[in-house]
This record gives sequence, structure tokens and C-alpha cells, in this order.
Amino acid sequence: MPNDTASGYVLEMLGISKSFPGVQALNDVTLKVRPGTVHALMGENGAGKSTLMKCLFGIYREDSGDIVLKGAKVKFHSAKDALVSGVSMIHQELLNVPDRSVRENVWLGREPMRSFGPLRFLDHRKMHEDTAALMKSLDMEIDPADRMGGLSISKQQACEIAKAVSYDASVVVMDEPSSSLTETETEHLFRIIRDLRSRGVAVIYISHKMSEIFQIADEVSVMRDGRMVGTYAASELDEDGLIRLMVGRDTTDRFPPVASVPGEVRLEVRGLTAANPRSFRDVSFDLRRGEILGIGGLVGAQRTELVEALFGLREVASGEILVDGGLVRVRSPRDAISHGLGLITEDRRGSGIFPLLSVTVNTSVASLGRYLGKARLLEHRRIESEAAKLNEALRTKTPSMGTQIQNLSGGNQQKVLVSRWLMTLPDILIMDEPTRGIDVGAKYEIYTIMAELARNGKSIIMVSSEMPELLGMSHRIMVLCAGRHTGTLEGKQATQENIMRLATQFV
Ligand SMILES: Nc1ncnc2c1ncn2[C@@H]1O[C@H](COP(=O)(O)OP(=O)(O)OP(=O)(O)O)[C@@H](O)[C@H]1O
Ligand SMILES: [Mg+2]
Repeated sequence: MPNDTASGYVLEMLGISKSFPGVQALNDVTLKVRPGTVHALMGENGAGKSTLMKCLFGIYREDSGDIVLKGAKVKFHSAKDALVSGVSMIHQELLNVPDRSVRENVWLGREPMRSFGPLRFLDHRKMHEDTAALMKSLDMEIDPADRMGGLSISKQQACEIAKAVSYDASVVVMDEPSSSLTETETEHLFRIIRDLRSRGVAVIYISHKMSEIFQIADEVSVMRDGRMVGTYAASELDEDGLIRLMVGRDTTDRFPPVASVPGEVRLEVRGLTAANPRSFRDVSFDLRRGEILGIGGLVGAQRTELVEALFGLREVASGEILVDGGLVRVRSPRDAISHGLGLITEDRRGSGIFPLLSVTVNTSVASLGRYLGKARLLEHRRIESEAAKLNEALRTKTPSMGTQIQNLSGGNQQKVLVSRWLMTLPDILIMDEPTRGIDVGAKYEIYTIMAELARNGKSIIMVSSEMPELLGMSHRIMVLCAGRHTGTLEGKQATQENIMRLATQFV
């Protein structure tokens, strides 16, 4: 059980400053966390949340400031170092060893040994039993012998949490932990978090999902532009108030008006069936000029698979795709692009980003063909100014257009990907979870651009797991469940209840 200290805080980060070339990422930031609480850390993309946590774990070295753990000044040199002192981080990109068992992952680097005369052996039995007991105490149904890489993301995450507990954690940091979890998995995560809290552990929780914050957080600290705005009891805030603190101004509407009236059919999909028998089957729909078609469903509904197939990234067994009434073959993204399609993928880390290249290159890489000038030389000036204009419109926060994209915050990298596909001037833009990981203010910018594209006659398919976004931005909402198209909702029919009903039809 972690000690309560005289100050009443288990962790104090005092006056932390950190700059990178061209940016002051943290400016005299103070964060104080009480034991046995869930402490949400909120702020727009690039506010400095991840940087602050990286300073805690010694991944970055702060320029000034102190870190005090249970009353004593500490300086960690690595995440492992912090872990041993009871401060752990549940990473979004899981850092386990996929080919080893769960028990080996939990005890990695401190395996229990047993002696036989002068010889020492790994005590597999103890490792197994200790892991089983740990899982049981946390109410996790995970077999210690299972291969880590074979578990779902949510179970792998649970293992990381179990590992933290086994180190007698007093502070556990979670940076956007729920972004790839289903609703049920998120509920399970919340149960684990509440359990940690009741054991006296402090959980620092970073998320852009407002509703989660009010479900789980006791206290909320808000950062803006590298500074700490303040710390509040969750009970004294409401959603609008929190947004105001984050963006530093009044936000009016959450969604811009989507005014356009859809025109003729641009894209028609008939009986599309994936080659993979476990994926989508017999999906038919159409998409009109100027229309935003939402695709709703639960995680696992095969929505991403469907749009990837439309973009030539997945094999199709049967079915037809028509663009402007003509049958087309889409066997590769190149085919798709030539028919006027663009795809913004949901997974910004896995696909699409060239970490070492500049924001300009990352923005323009899919549309260079349009900028071939005389003698087939690229017109760099035009590329640069076009890329800059798009990123300005999305309010991408970057020291310059020449900065390596890996140095941008997670949400700002996402914005660069959005601008990349806008730059290709697609007629049909497919957006898979376009605002995942993006802060409230920037969401509005993306919605505004979507509405404007629709007004200018472009068509948009938007896969989204966020109900308000589906309801606020779509002309029609098509719902998938377990790879089947279970219905399309429009007008008064488009309600949260109806979407859920269709999304769970076969569950
Ligand atoms: N290694 C780095 N080099 C240069 N700049 C960096 C580096 N790491 C972070 N930054 C900058 O520091 C600022 C804060 O970034 P940080 O990743 O902490 O934001 P965040 O609050 O976690 O945002 P998000 O919600 O988008 O994840 C950003 O302007 C970012 O560009
Ligand atoms: Mg971050």
C-alpha cells in the first residue's frame, strides 16, 4: 500500500520546464496527484501531456523543475527505473514481448530462481502460481501460460496493469489507453482502474474522450500551450466548462451545419464480399454527390475492412464497385486513387507516417504527381505553400513545416494525415475514425472541412465509433454488425438507440 505523505500527495511534479528546438513544450508546469485517485490530464493536441509524462519517466530530461515521489525527490533514468520505484506507464503501443508467455512478460528481468546445489534454475512453477494469483486478485481471466502476442489488445493491456501492480505501483500512468478498445473492454478497464484506486494507487489518465473523464476521474488537471491551467475536482466541472478550460475560449456549436443536399449517385457498391470468410459479406450501398455517409457499428463490425477493400487494400471475393455508373476494378490503392478515392486510415502509427520526414513531405507525398513542372521537376514552392495552407486550416501545431513529423504530438500527426488526403483532391474521401486522438477544438476544424467538401460536391464516407459525431455529421448512417449491413438510418430514424439496435443485431 503506498504511503500517504505529509503533503497529501503521492506524486508532485514541481515547476517542470522543457523546450525543444523551436518549441517550449512545458513551461513551469506543476502537477500534484493524491493517492487513491484517478487524475485526468487534459488538453488540446500539443498541449504537453505526453511530454510531461515522458519527463516523469526519464525519457526526456526536463530543463528545470523537481519530481517528488512520496515526499522524496527522485530522478528516473528510464521507464524500468521508475517501475522499480512503483511508477509505471501503460503505453498505447504495448511494449511487451509477444512471443513469450504472459507469466514471462510479467516477471521479465526479475524471474524467480530456485537453487539445486550450486545450480540455479528459473522457478517456472512459482512464476506460474504468482501470476495466477495476481490475475485472480485483479479479477482478470488470463491464463499465465498464454502467449502474449495471441491475446487481444485489451488483455495485453490488462497484463501490463497486472505487471504494474506486481511492482507494488503507487502511480500508474495511462496515455490514451482506451483508443483501441471496444465498449465492453473499456468498461473492464474502468473496473480495473477503480480497483487500483481502492488499493490506494493513483492513476493518471490521459484521454480525449470527454465522457470517459466524467465517468472515471476524481480530479482533472488541464494543460494549455505547455502551461498548467489548473486542477479541479471532476464534480465541479461539466463538459462545456472543461472544454472552455482546454481551448481557452468559448466554443459554441460542436458541429458545423451540414447544409448540402446530396445529388446524383457517385459510388455504388453491390454485394461486396471479402475474400476472408470471417470479414464482411454481401454489403450494398450507394453514396451521392455532396453526401456524408456515416458508417456505425461496434469494434469488430468489419467497418475498417470494408473501407480498406474499397480502397484496394483487401481482397474481395465477389461483388461490384461502380464509380459514376461505370464498373471499376480496385485492386490496389493506386487504382482507387485513379478513380478519385482517398482514404484516411484509423491507425496513424501503423500506416502512413514517415517519421523522419518533414511535415511538408508527409502532407504532399500522395499528390506529388500534380506538381510536376517543366522538365518534370517538382515545383517545391507550390508544394510547400499548398501544404502549409492545409495545415494552417487544420491548426496543426508544429514549429515549422520542415520539422520531422515524429516530433509532433500524436494528435497533430493525425492532422497532417488528414491534410495529406485533402491535398490529393479526392472526389470520394473515406475517413476511418477521422477524429480519434484529436482534441475538441481541432475536431470542429475537421468537421468544418468535411462540411465544406460536401458543399463543394465531394462525397465522404466516415467510419466512426463516436455517436455524437455520426449523428451530428452524417446525412445517412449505415450500420454494420459482424460484417453484415444491418440497416441504414436517416432523418428522424437516426437515433442513438436505433444505431445500437442495428449494431448489436447478431451479438
Ligand atoms: N522530441 C520532440 N522534439 C520536438 N518537439 C517535440 C518533441 N516532443 C514533443 N514536442 C512538441 O512538444 C509539444 C507538446 O507535445 P505533446 O506530445 O506533449 O502533446 P500532447 O499534449 O501529448 O498532445 P496529443 O493530445 O496530441 O497527444 C508539441 O508542440 C510537440 O510538437
Ligand atoms: Mg500525447
